[in-house]
Amino acid sequence: MDPNVRPESMERITTPALAEKFIAEQVAAIKAQVGDKKVLLALSGGVDSSVVAALLIKAIGKNLVCVHVNHGLLRKGEPEQVIKVFRDEMDANLVYVDAVDRFLDKLAGVKDPETKRKIIGAEFIRVFEEEARKIKDIAFLAQGTIYPDILESKDGVKAHHNVGGLPEDLKFALVEPVKLLFKDEVRVVGKALGLPDNMVYRQPFPGPGLGVRCVGAITRERLEVVREADAILREEFAKNGLQGKVWQYFTIVPDFKSVGVNAEGKRTEGYLVVLRAINTRDAMTATVAEIPFALLSHITDRITHEVAGVNRVAFDLTPKPTGTIEWE
Ligand code: XMP
Repeated sequence: MDPNVRPESMERITTPALAEKFIAEQVAAIKAQVGDKKVLLALSGGVDSSVVAALLIKAIGKNLVCVHVNHGLLRKGEPEQVIKVFRDEMDANLVYVDAVDRFLDKLAGVKDPETKRKIIGAEFIRVFEEEARKIKDIAFLAQGTIYPDILESKDGVKAHHNVGGLPEDLKFALVEPVKLLFKDEVRVVGKALGLPDNMVYRQPFPGPGLGVRCVGAITRERLEVVREADAILREEFAKNGLQGKVWQYFTIVPDFKSVGVNAEGKRTEGYLVVLRAINTRDAMTATVAEIPFALLSHITDRITHEVAGVNRVAFDLTPKPTGTIEWE
């Protein structure tokens, strides 16, 4: 039997009871696989890696070493939440790496979107490798691979290795407890493991994070604008019942300023915050979500008053195609 093929007899995990059964089976399987050896995990705080972390903590406790790399491109509150949930509440062995300056210094002045992605990806591997070398006796690498990742690698859509690119001497045996699950099942399991809703039902977030939404060369100032505006958008969507209803929503800040006027009648030059809210099934095509005009006006009012350096807000009305979901 191919371990990377989901057996036809495997029941879809849709209920807490089925999730508990899966958790018990996986805890036993992990214990049998790793024994008293140490396991390393790159914990981003996304659904998949968080569920894998929680499963492994249940199975082997402090023998799981989670490494959370803050590359400076995470959303507001994310690194803090990873620390709170995993270190404070689950008593995990968590290494927090503040690599903000390292990433932002490397990205300074780089405009090309693909080059930005490559720099972020390569630097991530380098930071993770350095941390892996500091920890003694690691025998396994845990990964949040899920079933669509396996299917897509088979179809040749994308090569999948979450922490691909590690040197040969750091190629550990893999622990991939959710590799036969679909995303909706991972969420049911995450809920049963006691992870908070905003982690379990998180919208998709690109690996290069806010870096793809801070269009052009990333500056710390503009990155803060993207992050603060995004936090307001998410807060307002949550307050108004749109969280979990709209598939993905975020803010983008292009690299130019335009002229505006402030309440005192003085000319300003400020950034434009673009709001994007889309619905899709598979992210290959997308439609624009219909957001009540009053809410859009309220969000505009908050962003222009609360986020320093912004004098305009726009809503992106473009479906995919012709626009992609992200701006890059
Ligand atoms: P585009 O912009 O191509 O985005 O229409 C399609 C979906 O993919 C997400 N996205 C990523 N997800 N790593 C990810 O895990 C990435 O590097 C990445 N880049 C884009 C994007 O947010 C959208 O949901």
